[in-house]
Amino acid sequence: MTKIKNICCIGAGYVGGPTMAVIAQKCPEIKVTVVDINAERIAAWQTDELPIYEPGLLEVVKEARGRNLFFSTDIDKAIEESEMIFMSVNTPTKTYGVGKGRAADLKFIELSARKIAEISKSDKIVVEKSTLPVRTAQSIKAILGEQSNGVKYQVLSNPEFLAEGTAVTDLHNPDRVLIGGDQTPEGLEAIEALTSVYAHWVPRERIIQTRLWSSELSKLTANAFLAQRISSINSISALCEVTGADVDEVAYAIGTDTRIGSKFLKSSVGFGGSCFQKDILNLVYLCEYFNLPEVAAYWDQVIIMNDYQKRRFAQNIIHSLFNTVSGKKIGMLGWAFKKDTNDTRESAAIYVSDFLLEDLAQVSVYDPQVPAASMYSDLNYLQTRPAAENKQMLEVCKDPYEALKDAHAVAIITEWDEFKTLDWERIYRDMQKPAFIFDGRNLLDHENLRKIGFKVKAIGKGEE
Ligand code: NAD
Ligand code: UGA
Repeated sequence: MTKIKNICCIGAGYVGGPTMAVIAQKCPEIKVTVVDINAERIAAWQTDELPIYEPGLLEVVKEARGRNLFFSTDIDKAIEESEMIFMSVNTPTKTYGVGKGRAADLKFIELSARKIAEISKSDKIVVEKSTLPVRTAQSIKAILGEQSNGVKYQVLSNPEFLAEGTAVTDLHNPDRVLIGGDQTPEGLEAIEALTSVYAHWVPRERIIQTRLWSSELSKLTANAFLAQRISSINSISALCEVTGADVDEVAYAIGTDTRIGSKFLKSSVGFGGSCFQKDILNLVYLCEYFNLPEVAAYWDQVIIMNDYQKRRFAQNIIHSLFNTVSGKKIGMLGWAFKKDTNDTRESAAIYVSDFLLEDLAQVSVYDPQVPAASMYSDLNYLQTRPAAENKQMLEVCKDPYEALKDAHAVAIITEWDEFKTLDWERIYRDMQKPAFIFDGRNLLDHENLRKIGFKVKAIGKGEE
């Protein structure tokens, strides 16, 4: 069996960095080199100011860095000396041409495959770590085969299921590891080689081996099912608000049915993150491509419901503040798409603040991990108004009390733990009256806030 001594990972992002750090930590005899075209990111991985915020990650990196974990921009060298190459590059939604706004943009995958084909002089196992449309391995094989120079390749699919904010625990203790490959003797040998890497710390019964296409499709399906649960409970939150039912009670009541289960039923201002929306759009595109319009429409509805939820939250703020927020200060707590990450991709904060700025609000934001530059760049990307206007209308504060001082309303967007222990009496004193709280996460103790004097509006909670 192929013994893996050197691993290369192309892409040092939210997936490549943590996954390779854990492989290096758990497999000290394997040299793991993570490469990227982004020199700034690689430089940051070599310091204690890692380019991504992830609890527990620095400790893992420090244990292996310099021993058998390396970060480099020398992509050619790392490819050349490795028997196994992970592709962990970004696969965003296409913003141009055929499939614009839906299909996955595979240009970074294609470039990586071409690079591997150009550089390799010995046999390689190429592992798809990025999330990819089903049958992408076919295209990768075609690219690798074009200029094989006698080199033999095996392509495996090994999608990543970690969630941001809990990446290290997810990687240390995964529900499962999925490895898909060709069902040929060479394919099965490659599957076994990758299995033996994970088997250093993952029990074998949790390592699932499948065909290539099943593995690729399982990743998109897993994300679609998770996001679907959030859209389902969010749809019910709207019904709760008009009937006086409580969405948390409903979620608890249905979640105790073991057939449904309790996870991913937390109603919110809408799911964000780099993957749910992009992966469902990709699934919808694939269904349309394979002429399955009913299936495409079914999954599209998950996105439609999520957009509705974000819009509904912002509209509720405007409606409650006497139908206008023009010139009013709205304090926003949280910009990241969930707690314990500095990632803001597709965060509900972007859309909610854009909506409020359209109604000429003055938005003041506090987030413990997100720098101001990311917030402005997120907003500018929407191109709703000139960058100078965003700068003028959106204030970024380093202190939550400053963000909420003189505000007419507080909007809770991210469920950071520290928001629960703020001095809410002080905040009430410093705000305009009536002082509103719009809790997009049902994070706070609403009864206590009402006692202080706040008017509280929460997701899926009707008027009492
Ligand atoms: P990311 O944008 O954080 O990182 C991707 C990195 O790849 C970037 O640093 C980029 O510079 C680099 N890159 C792009 N093209 C390159 C090339 N040709 N050569 C070298 N480097 C190159 O993305 P991410 O969040 O790590 O996601 C990567 C993939 O993993 C995506 O397909 C995503 O869907 C999937 N995924 C992400 C998560 C998550 O939590 N973020 C979880 C599971 C799966
Ligand atoms: C998600 C999946 O959970 C991972 O398994 C997957 O690997 C990853 O996508 C990916 O492919 O990128 P992630 O987006 O990092 O992980 O974080 P989640 O915990 O899934 O949260 C996604 C969004 O849903 C967040 O905005 C979160 O606040 C929201 N959410 C989550 C809810 O609104 N309610 C819930 O009950 C759970």
